[in-house]
Amino acid sequence: MGGAQDSSFRYPCSVIELRDVSKTFKSPSGERLTVLEGLSFSLPAGLSAAIEGPSGSGKSTLLALLAGLDQPSAGQVKVAGQDLGGLGESELSRFRAQNLGFVFQAFHLLQHFSALQNVVIAAEIAGLKEPLKAAREALSRVGLEGRVEHLPGQLSGGECQRVAIARAIVAKPKILLCDEPTGSLDRVNASKIFELLLELHKDLGSTLLLVTHDPHLAERLDRQLFLEQGRLVEGAA
Ligand SMILES: Nc1ncnc2c1ncn2[C@@H]1O[C@H](COP(=O)(O)OP(=O)(O)O)[C@@H](O)[C@H]1O
Ligand SMILES: [Mg+2]
Repeated sequence: MGGAQDSSFRYPCSVIELRDVSKTFKSPSGERLTVLEGLSFSLPAGLSAAIEGPSGSGKSTLLALLAGLDQPSAGQVKVAGQDLGGLGESELSRFRAQNLGFVFQAFHLLQHFSALQNVVIAAEIAGLKEPLKAAREALSRVGLEGRVEHLPGQLSGGECQRVAIARAIVAKPKILLCDEPTGSLDRVNASKIFELLLELHKDLGSTLLLVTHDPHLAERLDRQLFLEQGRLVEGAA
C-alpha cells in the first residue's frame, strides 16, 4: 500500500501512541504547572526505549498517563491499541493487570505478605487460571525460588526488586514500564536488575519503557528519549 497515509497508519504495530498530550497540574498555591505539552510519541511493539531527563521534568507523570493512573489534560493516550480515555475505572484496572507490568524505584511491595503472596495477588487480579503456579514460575524466573516465603522486610533491596519484577511479569504483559528501577540499588545489584529486565524484555517480547538517569544503561536500549520542556526528544541530550 503506497500513497498518502493517515498518520494513524504510519506505525501499524505501535503498542504505545501518544498524540498531542499535555498535562497541567494545579500547585497547592493555585498556580498552573504545565509538565507535558504537545507531546507526541509512538513506540512499535517489542522495542525498548529509555527515558531520560532532569528530576521534575515529568517522567513519572508520563508513565502514570501510559498506565491510566492519571488522565492527560489534553490529547490522546493509546496503549496496546486501546484509547485509555475511553475506559472507566474498573475497565482500566483490568486493562492494566492484563497488559502492563510496573517496576518502581521503591519496589512498592505489600510488606505483610510474602514474596509469593505479593506475586499471587497480581496473578489473581490479572485473572490467570492458575495464579499460584504462575507466581512460582515468575519467582523462579527472577532467581528467587529459594525465597518465596520471605516477607519483603526479610529480603535485600535487590531481592525486593526481583519480587517486584516477578509481580510485573507474572501475566506476561505486552508492556513493561519501569520508573528508575535501579535507582535505589548499589552498583552491582543495579547492574544485575538491569540485565534481568533486558533479558525478560527479550524473552517475553514485552515492549520496555525504562526511566533512568544512567546514560550507560540508556544506550543499551533501542531508543534513547529525553524529556525536555514537556516533550520527548530523540537522541543525544
Ligand atoms: N499531583 C501533582 N500535583 C501537583 N504537581 C505535581 C503532581 N505530580 C507531579 N507534579 C509536579 O510535576 C513535575 C513533574 O513530576 P514528575 O513527573 O514526578 O517528574 P520526574 O519523574 O521527571 O522527576 C514536578 O515539578 C512535580 O512537582
Ligand atoms: Mg520520577
